[in-house]
Amino acid sequence: MIPIDLKGKLALVAGVGDDRGFAWHISKALAAAGARLVFATHPRLVNVVGNILERDLDRESRELPFGAGELKVERVIPCDVEHDSMADVDEKKREDKRFSKHGDYSIQGLAAAIGKDFGSLDILVHSIAFSPEIKNKAIDTSRKAYLTALSISSFSLTAMLKAMQPYMENRPDGASAIALSYLGGDRVVPHYGGGMSTAKAALQIDAKQLASNLGPKNIRVNIISAGPYASRAASAIGDMDEMINHAASCSPLPRGIRPEEVANTTAFLCSPLASAITGHVLYVDCGYNVMGIFPKG
Ligand SMILES: NC(=O)c1ccc[n+]([C@@H]2O[C@H](COP(=O)([O-])OP(=O)(O)OC[C@H]3O[C@@H](n4cnc5c(N)ncnc54)[C@H](O)[C@@H]3O)[C@@H](O)[C@H]2O)c1
Repeated sequence: MIPIDLKGKLALVAGVGDDRGFAWHISKALAAAGARLVFATHPRLVNVVGNILERDLDRESRELPFGAGELKVERVIPCDVEHDSMADVDEKKREDKRFSKHGDYSIQGLAAAIGKDFGSLDILVHSIAFSPEIKNKAIDTSRKAYLTALSISSFSLTAMLKAMQPYMENRPDGASAIALSYLGGDRVVPHYGGGMSTAKAALQIDAKQLASNLGPKNIRVNIISAGPYASRAASAIGDMDEMINHAASCSPLPRGIRPEEVANTTAFLCSPLASAITGHVLYVDCGYNVMGIFPKG
């Protein structure tokens, strides 16, 4: 039997905000393969995530696949990926108690916490996207929202890898980073506005650049382009149900994707089984991306 064995590896999963999103399912798959876990969570969601990790009510959500036990996370570190360091935070946010109670919630703060508490990192998962104008068509998107979408959804991968590089370089078996994209970064998806389609296109070429920059340090960087799925973030997109139903009816595999399928692919890409795969965009979308003409139905 070929194993996916991540025993002894430390995985930092950024973007867990509830027990519905891709990041939660990815964490469970990595844990089922034996990885130790640390979360980087938006400061305003740290308590929500802490509760899901502890409450009896959420025990079922924490059950790992493959009968591998229950999800355990070593630390939930507050991180707002909009800020490289606390020097970037404006006065208003600095005074907002919902943020300030966390101390340093920048990417630099996150890297310092990983360095101090763990000293090395084998896996980085970036499962983060945001646009304040996601419901606006491209033509109606403001410059501010466009740049915010790029800063949070794309540049943050570069910033996180730069900050984590000292802990990820030259690990036994190499290190691996995964970020999540969507077909809207390749082609026009009408409701994917607010700068998000640009952000996904940027994320994909950034991942290729980063793969090239970091390959000599044996750090692999790959993208999973996932099919539509009704997570919390996706529910903010207009007509999400329509996108899901359309993909399900037109894909070569005529159904919607399951988040567990994205999670299992992440575990594979992070494992030594994928040791020669880097700079790749892997579609986990039931084949929807290959279609040119869509059957009626
Ligand atoms: N759901 C889909 O249909 C779909 C399809 C393809 C790709 N994706 C991508 O998957 C990834 C995860 O999304 P999801 O659908 O699981 O939704 P989600 O809502 O579970 O995840 C998005 C996460 O981004 C975090 N986030 C937003 N701004 C942040 C910031 N400034 N700092 C730190 N964290 C921040 C949120 O807290 C949230 O936890 C995203 O990159 C998304 O674009 C989603």
